Amino acid sequence: MKKIGLFWGSQTGNTENAADLIASVIGYEHVDSYNIRDTGADTLAGYDSLVIGTSTWGAGELQDDWYKVFPTLDSLDCRGKTVALFGLGDQLSYGDFFLDGMGILYEKFVERGAKVTGAWPADSYDYSGSRAFVQGSFVGLALDADNQDHLSASRIQQWVGMIRPVLL
Ligand SMILES: Cc1cc2nc3c(=O)[nH]c(=O)nc-3n(C[C@H](O)[C@H](O)[C@H](O)COP(=O)(O)O)c2cc1C
Repeated sequence: MKKIGLFWGSQTGNTENAADLIASVIGYEHVDSYNIRDTGADTLAGYDSLVIGTSTWGAGELQDDWYKVFPTLDSLDCRGKTVALFGLGDQLSYGDFFLDGMGILYEKFVERGAKVTGAWPADSYDYSGSRAFVQGSFVGLALDADNQDHLSASRIQQWVGMIRPVLL
């Protein structure tokens, strides 16, 4: 079985909590988990299966640590890599930019040649605009710890059930 590289960036801990739960549902023995603050594109390059998580800050911006790493992703060859994305956002307060950070990373990984898996239905959310909404669904798992925290665990369970057999 392949090892999955799980890379996440988190400002106040919400994405970190989601990453921990995702790793535990996949099975810790299959996952190497990295705070993107402490690592970079070179480490990411070593995995064929990636789970990538970010929150969104500012008005539709990447989380700070991803923001710093982002330019270095241009040197990453993602052909042959499979990527599953998850994002944290606040649909009520930032409904025009809901999960835009996940959309920004999606666009970059697609541009670098990755195959993206784990699209997620958008119908149980209430927002007006999202860069992470592409061809009728979110490009990855959509989590909202501010307004729908009670749904996060079951969403993660269901989503991991979809991506696990693809990534391992
Ligand atoms: C100042 C500020 C700006 C934010 N901007 C956005 C945004 O543009 N889009 C969005 O979906 N969420 C936005 N959020 C919500 C965060 O992404 C959300 O609280 C997330 O759970 C934080 O996760 P983290 O602790 O892992 O960074 C913002 C929150 C704050 C406090």
